[in-house]
Amino acid sequence: MTLTRRNLLRMSATLGLGALLPGAIRASTSGPQLLTARVSDVQLAPPDYPKTQIWGYDGKMPGTLIRVKQGDRVERRFVNDLPQASSVHWHGLRINNAMDGVAGLTQDAVQPGETFDYDFTAQDAGTYWYHAHNRSMEQVARGLYGALIVEEPEPVDVDREELLILDDWLLNPETAQLDTEFETPHDRSHAGRRGNYIATNGSSGTELPVKVSERLRLRLINAANARIFELDLSGFDGWVMAYDGMPLDEPEKVEGSFLLAPGQRMDLFVDVTAVAGEVAHLVRIDDDEGFSQAAFPVAPAENSARMRETPNPLPPNPNMSVPGVQTARRFELNMEGGAMGRLQSASLNGKEMSFRELVAANQFWSFNGVVGMTDTPLAQLSSGETARVSISNDTVFPHAMHLHGMHFREILDDGELGPLRDTLLVFGGETREIAFVAGEPGKWIFHCHMLAHTSSGMATWVNVT
Ligand code: C2O
Ligand code: CU
Repeated sequence: MTLTRRNLLRMSATLGLGALLPGAIRASTSGPQLLTARVSDVQLAPPDYPKTQIWGYDGKMPGTLIRVKQGDRVERRFVNDLPQASSVHWHGLRINNAMDGVAGLTQDAVQPGETFDYDFTAQDAGTYWYHAHNRSMEQVARGLYGALIVEEPEPVDVDREELLILDDWLLNPETAQLDTEFETPHDRSHAGRRGNYIATNGSSGTELPVKVSERLRLRLINAANARIFELDLSGFDGWVMAYDGMPLDEPEKVEGSFLLAPGQRMDLFVDVTAVAGEVAHLVRIDDDEGFSQAAFPVAPAENSARMRETPNPLPPNPNMSVPGVQTARRFELNMEGGAMGRLQSASLNGKEMSFRELVAANQFWSFNGVVGMTDTPLAQLSSGETARVSISNDTVFPHAMHLHGMHFREILDDGELGPLRDTLLVFGGETREIAFVAGEPGKWIFHCHMLAHTSSGMATWVNVT
């Protein structure tokens, strides 16, 4: 067939139809948008390596970006095309408990071939993420996560923004395939699963060109199973604008390195201070050595460069009640266990077991002498009341404690309240206290976000009625 203009037209019409039809059918039955978890091969390692088989939302790494405006309704039909049951948790959102996505607590796991409709309103602006919440230790390590960005009602004063999702992958150095030993007793009893290939947005060569003096918003998300990232800025002046989605009352100047624990997010505003031809970096510090976590080659600015003032704070999110610390009910959470810990015995499924018996059951950690979730919540609260929880880490490992559905504030040594957060990093030997106002009724899991710890003892819950 010769390619006349007419043939071309006919061809594109045919192709067009073929390509458009499924979408058209979907649109006309007007179900919610799909979010499909499936197996796929992606170029994760550098281009000279084979592709890596992952589990991804819509087969992508990172999973499909969900970006909405504050106050928007988010509707997604989760389709499970995986060989394993799954569920989706919307990390950091104030949400109806039935939509929180915790398999076994707020919903049944969605079986292979089944669907579940998530439907909620994004009431808070900020940087959030979503990830699998069934067998998370395996499913998040396989790639089941994506970003959920909720825009402020008015555009913020930056030239542009970049999303940087940090992760480490445990890959076979020859085949670039994932190590699928997800349940190793070593990972569970020590610091968790740590990768040997560190990536930003699913690539180790992330390059984002910038211009002299540009102001960027960087949205950082730590999606790793267990790695605590120590980060620094080079060629930028920066301010922390928000932690875990929630704006600070006053931006905090970045002076030196900072930590981002699993599950945590940070919004930074950064001004390019490097000159044209240089490269600015988000630096990762490993064992006192600096590596580029993301590179920002600097091009000349078209207009004469202007340096800006300290940024104004982001607008606060609505209805964040200040915890009434004085009258709050007090709870304690004592963490024990792990390798090199002092745990002698703890209760598992209602039975007191020696540490040796727990090890045989692949369980290693306890909260208040109890291993894993039971029918008894850590705290029974009524909506609107303030709780304070003193968390003592009587283990030799750091733990990133994440509370679902509510942000908390740390009660600092001077009695002041720290910033709103949903995940708090508590180092071995430390005692830290948090306070929060009980929000939506429901069962809210409170667990360590080192995912090998979650499944080997470090989970409890808070019941709000
Ligand atoms: Cu991001 Cu219960 O987790
Ligand atoms: Cu932990």
